[in-house]
Amino acid sequence: MKRDLISILDLTGSELSALIEDAIRLKMLRQEGRPHQFLFGKSLAMVFEKSSTRTRVSFETGMAELGGHALFLNPQDLQIGRGEEVRDTARVLSRYVSAVMIRAYRHESIEEFARYAEVPVINGLSDREHPCQIIADLMTIREHLGHTDGIRLAWIGDGNNVCNSLVLASALAGYEITVASPDGYQPRADTVEKARNAGGNVTLVRDPVEAVRDADVVATDTWISMGEEADRENRLRSFQDYTITSSLMNKASPEALFMHCLPAHRGREVTDEVIEGRQSVVWDEAENRLHAQKALLVKMLGRDV
Ligand code: CP
Ligand code: NVA
Repeated sequence: MKRDLISILDLTGSELSALIEDAIRLKMLRQEGRPHQFLFGKSLAMVFEKSSTRTRVSFETGMAELGGHALFLNPQDLQIGRGEEVRDTARVLSRYVSAVMIRAYRHESIEEFARYAEVPVINGLSDREHPCQIIADLMTIREHLGHTDGIRLAWIGDGNNVCNSLVLASALAGYEITVASPDGYQPRADTVEKARNAGGNVTLVRDPVEAVRDADVVATDTWISMGEEADRENRLRSFQDYTITSSLMNKASPEALFMHCLPAHRGREVTDEVIEGRQSVVWDEAENRLHAQKALLVKMLGRDV
């Protein structure tokens, strides 16, 4: 049966941990210049309804390094932009390519695509989740702190797609997550419930200082995700006390990591000093998208690393 990655909970804890091991091994092979063309002859269609730098470039170069090929597809250029149905597109693309990655406004569009596709479908970010980001994030934490279980992660700001996936993954990777967000911008209630039912340790607070106390990782993301631009003014007002500053970082563990999936908005969700500071691991985090996704593609397309 084909496997999709639409929610991070489509993986089990042991699959997630094996993926991270594979990603670390692939990173080493690449650093040593050793060939690892495990996907020779395979192809990945990438459908992007929204902008992307990291996801597009890491999937595209990842496929090339694995000996395969990736196609960048803008819905405006596909017949889907002229009304061809998602389910028809899914079935047709399945006859050409080995897997499909989709970045969509609506999570349901990815679910619908996956229902009709005969090949694995990967969520490259939806309004609800960003599972590929979380595999790379946990790999980064593994590299810097040695493990993810038992660590304390503080999320400051918008309870958005990235936050929701991190909340869910706490049930897989054994960390405690505390989310500090203003009223109306908490992570989805059904997501929090799902994470807790699956064994996740999730705390929701208002106060960023309370969230970062003893945290091993302090993470944030933009206050205005793609698709939420109409709520810009409300958001800028609501989040004004949620900037990650050096003084906030100083309230976390002394060696706490600062993480951000990028793109970042200096002076809003994080100061320049913090993102450029010694605790920031954002460039490793961005690089690890490449290795984590290569591991995912190899796993989905059926070869051992
Ligand atoms: N973090 C992330 O997904 O970045 P892009 O939007 O550039 O792909
Ligand atoms: N939360 C952001 C992440 C971008 C990678 C967004 O959805 O725009």
